[in-house]
Amino acid sequence: MRAIRVAIAGLGFVGRQTARLLKANQNRISESLGAKLELAAVCDRRVQREAAGLGLGKSVLRTRDPRELLKLPGLDIIVELLGGLEAPLQLVLGALKSGRHVVTANKALLAHHWNEIQGLASKNSARVYHEASVAGGIPIISALDKGFAADRIEAVYGILNGTTNYLLTRGEEGLDMDSALREAQNLGLAEKNPKIDLSGQDTAQKISILGSLLTGAWLNPSRIARQGIYGLDRSDIDFAKANLGRTPRLLGTLRLNWPKAAGSAGVRIEAHVYPTLVPLNHPLAAVRREYNAVLVHASCAGDLMFYGKGAGPDPAASAVVSDIFTLARDILCAAPVKKRKPAALQLTPSAQYSSPFYLRLLAQDKPGVLAQITAALGRRAVSIASIHQPNAGAAKGRGTLIILTTHPTTQGRFEQALKAILALKAVAPRHTVLRILEC
Ligand SMILES: NC(=O)c1ccc[n+]([C@@H]2O[C@H](COP(=O)([O-])OP(=O)(O)OC[C@H]3O[C@@H](n4cnc5c(N)ncnc54)[C@H](OP(=O)(O)O)[C@@H]3O)[C@@H](O)[C@H]2O)c1
Repeated sequence: MRAIRVAIAGLGFVGRQTARLLKANQNRISESLGAKLELAAVCDRRVQREAAGLGLGKSVLRTRDPRELLKLPGLDIIVELLGGLEAPLQLVLGALKSGRHVVTANKALLAHHWNEIQGLASKNSARVYHEASVAGGIPIISALDKGFAADRIEAVYGILNGTTNYLLTRGEEGLDMDSALREAQNLGLAEKNPKIDLSGQDTAQKISILGSLLTGAWLNPSRIARQGIYGLDRSDIDFAKANLGRTPRLLGTLRLNWPKAAGSAGVRIEAHVYPTLVPLNHPLAAVRREYNAVLVHASCAGDLMFYGKGAGPDPAASAVVSDIFTLARDILCAAPVKKRKPAALQLTPSAQYSSPFYLRLLAQDKPGVLAQITAALGRRAVSIASIHQPNAGAAKGRGTLIILTTHPTTQGRFEQALKAILALKAVAPRHTVLRILEC
């Protein structure tokens, strides 16, 4: 029986669970493949300690240095689960240079080095599978890559970060943001330094991967407009629920406008990450805690929703093992490596994005202030949908909260109006801006 030889680099949470799942499903996988899937090597800085308890055979090479894996003869697949950027990049490029195939769960690596990695893979007829890099256990990468041969994907949006979703939904349940963050950290759902999640950077990296996958061209994550959930507090969540019938979710969004005819200009893309108020009866409002959901709009298939656990060693390792299995099958049947001409990307400037907005301000409680604020919006042709003063007159001398919502307008116009409002003496600098989902 032919053997497909696999090495795992990184025996952390995901690497150890991947090794366990491979072992537990060895017979089932071999039966379906008609070949043996053999774990030939593992690598970790503390390889002896991390490999102990995984039940690996004596013949499995254990090394502390990822570069050792590149010297191993007869290796078919290198699974990169180190995390970080530098060592994974060297390992992945080294593997592809020698025509070995790669599985990785590393979203930062793919988002920042897409061109380099895919270019080298294509040159050497090697494959890079990365299901676990977006939305954990949800098979969104293979769905988008293989599930829509007859379609154009026109939009992909949703909740791609479990940490922020945990905080927002615990906020909905009555917890303040700081306590929700401490709770998420205690449960291992948030990093000690949660900046990458809370700033929307993690979601932007995932949107970058999805955009690059769909167009074949690199969507640079630093060009994706983003706003995290900093500044949003429980009063916004409570207010939106009680008065607007909505609740906030951090949404990553891709809208693709494909050229009508071959040879015409490239695909126009809208790509952003914003905290957004969704109606309480919208499917995204039902996505709670660390769960993720991705909505896809395809030209023929219409609207689809993918839902599941977005992170955690079990869902991530499940996606990694699926990639290893698919890759092994592709190797065995010598499936041709997909070659694709990248589409020319035209990223729409964020000033042109259109949305209704929610704005919370703190202003002096005196006559004329509201008129100044509405005038600033009116001068930029931003039309107001509603104005609320939830604590008017209640906190004398401490200012009044003004919460307003707008009709759809461009981000450029809204930002100009906001700048003028924040320049008013009577308005405090601290404020909250949220998008409102149109549906
Ligand atoms: N955890 C999840 O829920 C999840 C979900 C989806 C995707 N991912 C991705 O999966 C990857 C692995 O995540 P993880 O949570 O398993 O991380 P982890 O627990 O930190 O595991 C990484 C392991 O690799 C080792 N390592 C890192 N650099 C090394 C090097 N240069 N040489 C030798 N060993 C090295 C680390 O050792 P040290 O600890 O000594 O650095 C650690 O034992 C990451 O890219 C992550 O973004 C994770």
